[in-house]
Amino acid sequence: MIKILGHSNLNDKYNFNIKRKRPEELYESALEYFKNDTLSSYAKSKSIMRTQRKITLRALEIMELKENHCLILDAGCGPGFVAIYLNELGHKTIALDIISDFLNFYDIKGLNPILADMCYPPFQPSIFDAIISISALQWIYKDSNLEKKRLDLIGLFKSFYSILKPNGKAVFQFYPKSKEIMDEIGKIITQNTQFKGKFIIDNPNNPRKRKIYLLTTKGF
Ligand SMILES: C[S@@+](CC[C@H](N)C(=O)[O-])C[C@H]1O[C@@H](n2cnc3c(N)ncnc32)[C@H](O)[C@@H]1O
Repeated sequence: MIKILGHSNLNDKYNFNIKRKRPEELYESALEYFKNDTLSSYAKSKSIMRTQRKITLRALEIMELKENHCLILDAGCGPGFVAIYLNELGHKTIALDIISDFLNFYDIKGLNPILADMCYPPFQPSIFDAIISISALQWIYKDSNLEKKRLDLIGLFKSFYSILKPNGKAVFQFYPKSKEIMDEIGKIITQNTQFKGKFIIDNPNNPRKRKIYLLTTKGF
């Protein structure tokens, strides 16, 4: 079972009682939400860019990569804030997203942009040292009552397990709606892959500052 660290006083009622609905609760899919002005204001936002860079640094810290020049997949890359930063830090990065307008917003040809669904990524087994997915997983699994969503999530974890090298790691920063969703994600991982995993929660009792990370590690 996936352990949850950093949640000593995590209380569902208090902590997940966020007043405003998040876009993934209001829209069926990312493709329906990220369009036109919404897409371009996200891609042009300097404050989102700064936040995503900070989250990326924390994700790298959590993964404790041994090498400085890893091959990393940025899954659900959007306009490329994370992938561009990883590249600046010396990693070789492949940027993947399901929305072509995001991949074409900036010139990120050097990041090998790939238009695909991250639940079914088109890669050979054992090629990535690491996978980073920032603020995307909540679009894949937002509710437990849809069988298609569950199958997509199983597809994602099985695929990520396959495309990571032995001892490779994947880290997901995301915004789950509830602690139950986190528990279900943990169950799906343990029932379908041999990943070892844990949740790491920064600022657990401050809903505005809280950041939830899921780290999964493939064994040798
Ligand atoms: C909030 S944005 C985050 C973008 C980027 N990771 C960042 O940190 O700026 C969520 C992204 O997840 C992508 N996404 C959602 N579902 C996806 C899927 N099934 N496959 C690939 N990308 C997906 C969306 O297209 C969108 O670009």
